[in-house]
This record gives sequence, C-alpha cells and structure tokens, in this order.
Amino acid sequence: MADEDLQLENLAGVGPITKTRLEEKGIYTVLDLAYIGASEVAEAANLDLSKAIEMCNNARKKLVDLGILENDFVSADQLYKKRLEIDRISTGSSNLDDLLGGGIETGALTEFYGEFGSGKTQICHCLCVMAQFPKEQGGLNASSIYVDTENTFRPERLAGVAEIRGLDPDVALRRVTVAKAYNSAHQELIVRELGRVIKEKSARLVIIDSAVAHYRAEFLGRATLADRQQRINRFMHHLLRMSEVYECAVVMTNQVQSAPDVIFGDPTRPVGGHVLGHTSTYRIYLRKASKNRIAKMVDSPSHPERETVFVMNERGVDDPGEDSPVTQ
Ligand SMILES: Nc1ncnc2c1ncn2[C@@H]1O[C@H](COP(=O)(O)OP(=O)(O)O)[C@@H](O)[C@H]1O
Ligand SMILES: [Mg+2]
Repeated sequence: MADEDLQLENLAGVGPITKTRLEEKGIYTVLDLAYIGASEVAEAANLDLSKAIEMCNNARKKLVDLGILENDFVSADQLYKKRLEIDRISTGSSNLDDLLGGGIETGALTEFYGEFGSGKTQICHCLCVMAQFPKEQGGLNASSIYVDTENTFRPERLAGVAEIRGLDPDVALRRVTVAKAYNSAHQELIVRELGRVIKEKSARLVIIDSAVAHYRAEFLGRATLADRQQRINRFMHHLLRMSEVYECAVVMTNQVQSAPDVIFGDPTRPVGGHVLGHTSTYRIYLRKASKNRIAKMVDSPSHPERETVFVMNERGVDDPGEDSPVTQ
C-alpha cells in the first residue's frame, strides 16, 4: 500500500479547503476519515452531512479496494481464512492468553474491567512489553501507544518487566509512546490524533487506561446521563473503527460500580452501562481472589463464558506457579 493512496487530496470530493479543515481537526488520511465517521467529519470540516457521508463512503470504498477493509458482502470461508491470520499479542500469562483464544486480537477492542487493584493497569503495562517480542515469542515486534487517564502509567514498572523478560529496558521504553489525558475533551482530542501517531510509530497496540474515568468525574447527576452516554458512545466507536482500519489491538480498562440491586452473585458492574458492553469486541472481568486474580470472559462473539487464574509479579502478568512469587 502506497502512502499516496491514503492521502486526502487523492480522494474524490476532497478539495484543498476541505483538506485543510480536516487536517485542523486531526483528520489526516483516508484511514482517519473511515474511522471518524460522517457526522463528525461534517462538523469538523463544516460540510453538509450528505457530502460528508459521500466522502466517508468513498474513503471506505478505497480501503476495500486496498484490501484494508472487508467488502460489504463477503463469503464466510473468506472471513474464516482471514480470522485464522489475525495477529495476536500475548498478555504474558498463558492462562489469560488461552482465555482470549491465543492473546489480545488486533482489529478488535478488548475491555478489561474490575475493581481497584484487580490488575487492569498491570495487564496494560505487560502488554506494551509483550508486543515488542517477535511473533514466535508472543509479540508483533511492534511499538505501543498508552493513553493514561488516571496518572498510573509507570515507566519504571515497564522497564522492570522488560528487563526480566530479556529486553533492553531503554529500547523497550522508547517503543512505548505515552499520552496523558487530563479531561474527557482532551482524551477525545488524543484519540483523534491517534491515527497519525500509530502510523508514525508503526504501533500495533493502543491502550486506554482507563476509558471512562473522566466522563464519570465530569458528568454528575442523572440530568447529564444522556449526554455522557452519547460522548462515551462516540468515543468507543472511534476506538473500534480505529482498531479495524489501523489493524491494531485496542485495549481499554474500565472500573466497576456497585449495583445494589444484585442480590445473588457479584454486586459489581462495569461503569458506562450498555454502551460499552455493545461496543467492545471482548470483555474480561477481573477480580481478586486471595493471592491470585481471576479473569472471566464475559462477552465474546466466539468464546464460552469461562474463568482462569493469573498472578502479578516482577514479570508483570504471569501464570501461577510454585516458583513465581505471587502478590495479594
Ligand atoms: N512490581 C510488582 N510486583 C508484583 N505485584 C505488583 C507490582 N506492581 C503492582 N503489583 C500488584 O498490582 C496491584 C495493582 O494492580 P493494578 O493493575 O494497578 O490495578 P487496577 O486494576 O486498579 O488498575 C497491586 O495491588 C499489586 O498487588
Ligand atoms: Mg489502574
């Protein structure tokens, strides 16, 4: 794929003025057009919605021609072949990888949710290290982008995990780009710019840790709920489409809130409600169990609901074992 193919000026309907307006809003390529979607493109470039729809459809068509996106109608066996070739990134724990069907999928949105201390941030750190290994060792020889909304990214933790797993920690740190998001609007801006950074850094993994904390803090009370859900909805769809057009794994974390109406079972639910549930391709619920952590595949189009055990130690995320020191 030549880069010119993806340039905005080579797409039908994009003149120099539209191009400048789009670029001002962080839409640089045909890939960005395809993942941002028509209503926002119309808003960004001050275009009629019908014109924006046409432009986004043209972008989609181009990506189909280039083999980046699927045709609208495609035979199931072709899809099956394509799925067998999907790249995956190991989490660092073979138990967790098995639960996920071989690791975190590229071209999909994977959500880890659980209470404070359940291991969400540790998984994110470890994934950024694992992504750097060659394919035979569970990685994609790729760099990562880490969007940190809770100020919990720790380079020293990343360096420690990299070193003990046999990577040069300095090199490993250079292959992770961090963006701190200070509020929800800033977080949305960062995601708009992500396409450019993914290309620049050849990243195959994008982490959003965590996805809805800012929305939760900023939108208080029932009156703001609809607005909040709409913003979260738009944000999640950006992420999902981005994972497809850039063929990268997008991993996001989510807190749980207590659901007092649940009498039997676990009285916690992911924050963000139904919007998140319907957007993530895979959802994994994490919980603490004495010294270990339990991960459960909650919502997947192809995996059974199943649980597994992992631990956190100096290797980041690991399988429980006699000689692997476990934390609590
Ligand atoms: N270097 C480490 N070695 C072993 N365990 C660690 C290390 N760093 C953090 N942990 C474990 O990770 C837990 C925090 O998990 P974290 O992923 O940050 O939670 P959250 O789900 O809130 O993001 C700590 O309570 C600790 O048990
Ligand atoms: Mg965390």
